[in-house]
Parts: sequence; C-alpha cells; structure tokens
Amino acid sequence: MKKIAIVTGANRGLGLATSEALAQRGFKVLMAMRNPDKAQKQINSLKMKDLDVVPMKLDLASEKSINDFVEQVRRDYGFVDVLVNNAGILIDSEDGGNGSVLKTKAATIQKTFTTNTVGPFLLTQKIFPLMRQEGYGRIVNVSSGMAQLSTPQSASAAYRLSKTALNMVTNLFASEVQGADICVNSVSPGWVRTDMGGPNADRSIEQGIKGILWAATLPKGGPNGGFYRDGEPLPW
Ligand SMILES: NC(=O)c1ccc[n+]([C@@H]2O[C@H](COP(=O)([O-])OP(=O)(O)OC[C@H]3O[C@@H](n4cnc5c(N)ncnc54)[C@H](OP(=O)(O)O)[C@@H]3O)[C@@H](O)[C@H]2O)c1
Repeated sequence: MKKIAIVTGANRGLGLATSEALAQRGFKVLMAMRNPDKAQKQINSLKMKDLDVVPMKLDLASEKSINDFVEQVRRDYGFVDVLVNNAGILIDSEDGGNGSVLKTKAATIQKTFTTNTVGPFLLTQKIFPLMRQEGYGRIVNVSSGMAQLSTPQSASAAYRLSKTALNMVTNLFASEVQGADICVNSVSPGWVRTDMGGPNADRSIEQGIKGILWAATLPKGGPNGGFYRDGEPLPW
C-alpha cells in the first residue's frame, strides 16, 4: 500500500515544494491548507504531473478544524506514515519597531503560539496514535535557527519563542516512541526565499526542503528527538 504523508501549509512556499517532492518519491500526500479552494492552480499543476496529492482543509489555529481533519484522515485512510508540521507565521513586525522585543505585544505572542506551537502540538498528539498503531512514523517539525537557545537572539520575540517551544514539542513526542520505528525531529530549513523569508534570503526553496525530506524519509533506526539542518545536527 502507498505511504501517506501529511504536509501542513501545503499551498505555498516550503510546504508546497515538500508536498511535490514527497509525491515524487511515491507518497500519497495529504496537502493540508486553510483554503483549498484558493489553491486550485497549485494542486492542478501537481496533478498534471501525475502526482498523488489530496487537498484537505486545515486551520491550525482552530482545534475544531484539527479534530475534523484528523477524523477525516482516520476515516478515509486509517494510518499515516509522515507528518510534516510546516505551516507557520511570523508576524512580529506588525507590532512596529522592527520586531523589537521592547515592542512585542502579548496578543502577538499568543497568536503566534496558536499557529506555530499549539496547532502542531495538537495535530501531532492526534496523529501519533495512528503511527504507534502501525509501529512506523516520521514527524518533522519545521523549526528555525531563530529558535536556538545556544546563540544570542534578538527581535521577533513571538516567533522565536514559538519555535523554541516547538522544539520542545519534538523533544516531548520523541520520548513517547517507546521502541517503535518512529522518528520525531525538528528541522531548520535555513533562510529561504519564500513569502516569509523574502527575496533576499540566501537559500532557494529546493535547498530549504532538503533537510525536511531527509527527516521525513529517515531509514529504520534513524535519529529521534534531534534538531537538524541539511541532515546535520544543529545545537538547540
Ligand atoms: N522561509 C524561511 O526563511 C524560513 C526559515 C526558517 C523556518 N521557516 C519555517 O518554515 C515553514 C514554512 O515557511 P515558508 O517560508 O514556506 O512560509 P510561507 O511561504 O509564509 O508559508 C506559510 C504557510 O503556512 C500556512 N499557514 C499559516 N497559518 C496557518 C494556519 N493557521 N493553518 C494552516 N496553515 C497556516 C500558510 O497558509 P496561508 O497561505 O493560508 O496563509 C502557508 O501555507 C514555517 O514554519 C516557517 O516558520 C521558514
């Protein structure tokens, strides 16, 4: 039977490219996104290439949407091999002051956490049992170098806090694996030319997804509970 991969934020940027690359590697890809109706062009272009992709509605900021999504996955497929928690927001600049930590508003931190941390946490919590049941799974939390505690960080506090906490989501679920062939890892894609990264970023989307694909397709006995960029360990 075909392996099933879920990619969140699959309508653009790293999520769209990851979906295409996993489908090219033989996965049926459940492309989770807020507005499938608005992504017809992207979906059709993948289908024209004979790729097995299924657009599905998922808003990570809504627990009901997460529940409905998981229920549909459970009903239609009953198992999941790969979960790429890719969707994310970076909205610190909305507080002015160039994202200065001195300007960050509580609401910005809360909104960012809802999408970048709580959403992936809940989705992982609900998909994890489907993986445990099959004894196999690869979970990739798309994090960031901006999450690192080991290097000095400034500005964009809400985003950095949310991604550091996402790394703890990795750590927590990695310790629930209990001997199954499940690998849960955080991956930093580097600074990538997407809507979020902007045109001046030093990496192409192709370079950015390399490490995500590596973690999504790790062989049996692959690393669990780590933080990586391009398949190399990154200090937390
Ligand atoms: N680009 C970089 O330089 C960089 C660096 C480090 C880490 N990252 C991480 O890589 C991931 C992908 O980033 P990207 O550069 O591809 O960003 P992007 O082009 O801005 O895409 C973000 C994606 O997340 C989706 N999303 C946002 N809020 C959502 C929600 N509530 N529910 C479901 N989907 C939601 C967006 O959907 P809509 O179209 O509906 O808004 C979009 O598909 C993010 O987690 C980001 O933090 C990026």
